[in-house]
Amino acid sequence: MARTDPRFVCQSCGATRPRWAGKCDACGTWNSIVEEIPREAAPKGLGKGKGREIAFVNLAGEHGEVARHVSGIAELDRVVGGGLVTGSSVLLAGDPGIGKSTLLLQAAGALAANGLRAAYISGEEGIEQIRLRAARLGIGDAPVLFAAATSVRDILTSLESAEAPDIIVIDSIQTMYLDTLDSAPGTVSQVRGAAQELIRHAKRSGSVLLLVGHVTKEGQIAGPRVLEHMVDAVLYFEGERGHQFRIVRAVKNRFGPTDEIGVFEMTGAGLAEVPNPSTLFLNPERGPVSGAAVFAGIEGTRPVLVEIQALVAPGPPGSPRRTVVGWDSGRLAMVLAVLEARAGLSLGASDVFLNVAGGLRIGEPAADLAVAAAIVSSYSNRPVPEGTVVFGEIGLSGEVRPVAQSAARLKEAAKLGFNHAIVPPRSPNGGKNAAEAGVGDISRQEIKRVGELLDLLSPAGESGA
Ligand code: TYD
Ligand code: MG
Repeated sequence: MARTDPRFVCQSCGATRPRWAGKCDACGTWNSIVEEIPREAAPKGLGKGKGREIAFVNLAGEHGEVARHVSGIAELDRVVGGGLVTGSSVLLAGDPGIGKSTLLLQAAGALAANGLRAAYISGEEGIEQIRLRAARLGIGDAPVLFAAATSVRDILTSLESAEAPDIIVIDSIQTMYLDTLDSAPGTVSQVRGAAQELIRHAKRSGSVLLLVGHVTKEGQIAGPRVLEHMVDAVLYFEGERGHQFRIVRAVKNRFGPTDEIGVFEMTGAGLAEVPNPSTLFLNPERGPVSGAAVFAGIEGTRPVLVEIQALVAPGPPGSPRRTVVGWDSGRLAMVLAVLEARAGLSLGASDVFLNVAGGLRIGEPAADLAVAAAIVSSYSNRPVPEGTVVFGEIGLSGEVRPVAQSAARLKEAAKLGFNHAIVPPRSPNGGKNAAEAGVGDISRQEIKRVGELLDLLSPAGESGA
């Protein structure tokens, strides 16, 4: 017999407790506990009943290549590892209004135009709204199967009665509900239950399941983190409100690399691919100004050049401000401490602001040296020489350490017209690295200590090479 005792579930961490409380003991969130009636209580021990025997096999053996559906939207295909894997489930998470529905509608349109069966099921918008949007995106004629529905039972019945679609988009998982559960749509058990049923269907039918998930203000996928464990891939859709461009980032992928990004620009006619993001994050007309350095970074498999801006300004007495946009604040604190202790900068009484231009988020330690160059440049009011890129990791003793893929970074810089690079010394075996030696038309300034940056920034803004 299924027990239907109510239980109380924290909507933030999923912890259950027998009684309601104002604060969750497990994660400390206030007002997150909601009464939910479980569909079926977990069996109390397995008892005597015998299970089916499972067969163990060796790792070596037959395995087919995974089949993928390529959407033709290259920025999206790359992030998922070269196309959407059949039978897999993908969660696309992001803030409301960032462009999730737009991207998946465009993807469904592109896949349908390629002759695949694509179904788009919206629990948020009506058919008319979707038609209007599709027309605006220029995919009004694509043979996508649309439906406005929120009942998972109805959706699965309809999907099973017709030829299985190759792609199923569910927009959004928070609006879907199972009628076997008493709790409201969007609660942990509803989201978990609805996702489970849909994922099971996708696995069985070989369809690709794309789930849209909203993210709360705290940056979590609303309510259940559990969703992240259930799906095969989790993509985050990021972007700053004031900026045009949007980044899709894979944070989990069972069928491909993570840390790969896809870059899009939000235009009047939907999301446009940005195949060469460096051009988006750089401002060629700027001329030399102090407090800016161009970082040659790597995002996934692709080099991306971005401008890092710093402002060191005298602050009011007391605790100085440290404000960071697009980078890790702990990492900034470390670079500032190293600059004070090892290069003699006195920053204790100054406010420091750091910004990665364009709104990109950088996670690489290789950005240390570019951050330091921007700070030193602002501090000394001397621009980094024009046409210069910077990369390198900084150690606590002030040493500049080699980073991976310097050849790819330098190549991208050369391609975009940079002719000088401030870089770490080559690693002991780096001299033998033919690829790196082959980057010809860019002069390298190798520095061993972060303090050497001070000598490289020339007062007149001329090239320090
Ligand atoms: P949407 O895809 O609805 O966001 P989400 O599904 O993540 O909530 O995107 C909504 C925003 O995108 C909205 O503010 C308007 C903008 N937009 C454009 O700028 N151009 C377009 O062609 C479309 C369809 C939307
Ligand atoms: Mg939407």
